[in-house]
Amino acid sequence: MAAASPVRPAVLVARAIFPETVQRLRAHFAVEDNPDDAEWSRAELIRRLQGKAGALLTGTQRIDDALLRACPTLRIVANMTVGYNNFDVAALDAHGVVGTNTPDVLTETTADFGFALLLAAARRVTESEHFLRAGRWTRWSYDLFAGAEVHGTTLGILGMGRIGQAIARRGAHGFGMRVLYHNRTRLDATIEADCRATYVSKAELLREADHLVLVLPYTPQNHHIIGATELAQMKPTAVLVNIARGGIVDDAALAEALRTRRIAAAGLDVFEGEPAVHPGLLEVPNVVLTPHIASATVRTRRAMADLAADNLIAFLTQGRALTPVNAPRELRMAS
Ligand code: DGY
Repeated sequence: MAAASPVRPAVLVARAIFPETVQRLRAHFAVEDNPDDAEWSRAELIRRLQGKAGALLTGTQRIDDALLRACPTLRIVANMTVGYNNFDVAALDAHGVVGTNTPDVLTETTADFGFALLLAAARRVTESEHFLRAGRWTRWSYDLFAGAEVHGTTLGILGMGRIGQAIARRGAHGFGMRVLYHNRTRLDATIEADCRATYVSKAELLREADHLVLVLPYTPQNHHIIGATELAQMKPTAVLVNIARGGIVDDAALAEALRTRRIAAAGLDVFEGEPAVHPGLLEVPNVVLTPHIASATVRTRRAMADLAADNLIAFLTQGRALTPVNAPRELRMAS
């Protein structure tokens, strides 16, 4: 009698991703994917998660107590993002489910984009391009789109994890900037020296920075960490860059600060309630707006998808995730 082939765990890939990554998963698992990138409601996601041991997610699917109760076979949720504010980590722990993210592989690419937004906003790149495309450029003038200096100025960084440090290095080593940072915990002296960054209070950061880049994770404590009060403490010539998460900035207050020129400009890749964007931000010219693409180079997005897949493979075949964000005391057993 032929030996029965072992039953392969089932995994769900919730959004369209690189076909090659899905192929790699198929070598290990029974895969259900979403190649047409259909919009699944939460009920649909829960329905498709029935019987699945793992899920590859893109950071927008909320994984909480109710979902984990409704999906009792689920053992690992692998985000292809570094941010994991879509996970209720306490609920993951309580249900013995491992969550993973994709640190490191996107650090430098995301830092590049932070600088792209800073330069574009300070030097009025998109604003001047719109002017040119509209046929309004008729002659040179001494103050045509004169913006703010970037090199040699003071760069403030709020949130000094891996991406914050990569931005600090670009500022200090590439643009000759004085770098100040504020973080929940102060960094090691060796890291501070490598980044040429000085730790200051949040109040000093807001007051001193010529340009402020936000790179902190979204948590309930960080909700609207930059609002009207903080914007009022910044220099009127300052540029604010948000490549972290929507909800960290009070977008209504920011739109008002930009409209009244309380600060000079902003570069935003993330928004409260995205993909919706606060209408006030769409109305003001002094803001560069991009659709959450800071990590979007082909190579980096590929590395993010592959790391998420590797987490599923490592955990479901060898019991160890590569980049977990939690460590439940007891893991859900395979069913
Ligand atoms: C991340 O990885 O968290 C980025 O914001 C991309 O979604």
